[in-house]
Amino acid sequence: MRIDKYLAQMGQGTRSEVKQLLKKGKVQVNGVVEKSPKTHVNVDQDQIECQGKLIRYVDKIYIMLNKPKGFVSATKDDINDTVIDLISEYNYLDIFPVGRLDKDTEGLLLITNDGQFTHDLMSPKKHISKTYEVTAQKNITSHDIDRFKSGIELTDGVTKPAVLKKCETSNKSLVTLFEGRYHQIKRMFHAIDNEVIELKRIAIGGLSLDEGLAPGEYRQLTLEEIELLTNKEKEV
Ligand code: URA
Repeated sequence: MRIDKYLAQMGQGTRSEVKQLLKKGKVQVNGVVEKSPKTHVNVDQDQIECQGKLIRYVDKIYIMLNKPKGFVSATKDDINDTVIDLISEYNYLDIFPVGRLDKDTEGLLLITNDGQFTHDLMSPKKHISKTYEVTAQKNITSHDIDRFKSGIELTDGVTKPAVLKKCETSNKSLVTLFEGRYHQIKRMFHAIDNEVIELKRIAIGGLSLDEGLAPGEYRQLTLEEIELLTNKEKEV
C-alpha cells in the first residue's frame, strides 16, 4: 500500500496533510526517513513511525462505550449528538454502533466497523442476552417476576421469557432479555402497570460494562472480550 494512503487511513491526517508530513521528514520507515508519498509499505512487516509515534495497522476495531444519556445511537443525526461524535478519534475507520440504546438510556454500547461481528451479535438466532439495570416508579412484586418469565403481551406480540430480579440493596431491578425490540423494557414495565425512570445496560452476553468508564468514556475491547462475544455464544 502507498505510504500516504496508509497514514491517512490510520488517522494521521488527510492525504495532502500526510504528504506535507512526509515532505517535512516526519515519517520513518524501519528507522529511515521517508519523504516520497509514492513509496509502498508492507503493513504487516514494516515499522512505520509518524511524528515519533509507531503507527500500527488497525483494520477492525471494537470499542466499549459507556453511553451517556442525551446521545442517539446512530452515525449521523441532524438534530441530536450521536454516540459516534463521542469517538471522533476513530471516525476515519467508519465505525457504527452495534444495535441501539434509546436516547435517554445509558450504559454498555459496542461500536465497531465489523459488519459480520454486528450481524452475529444482533442475530435473533444467537439469543445473546442483554442485561439492564432499571429504576422504576414502583417496587417489583413476585407477580411481576412471574409475568416477565411467562412473557408479556405487547402490541407486536408476546415477549420471550425474560428474567426480572429485584436488587437487594436498592430500589433497582435487573432485567435480562434474549431479544431486542423497540423500547422493549419501557413497554414491558408499562404493561405491568409500572414505568421506567432510568435505564442502564450493564452487560451483553458475558461482557460486562467496565465500571471504570464514566459516562461518555470508552476503550477498545481486549482480545479475550472479543472472543467472549464471538466464540462462546452458540447458535441454537
Ligand atoms: N429497552 C428500552 O426500553 N430501551 C432501551 O434503550 C433498551 C431496552
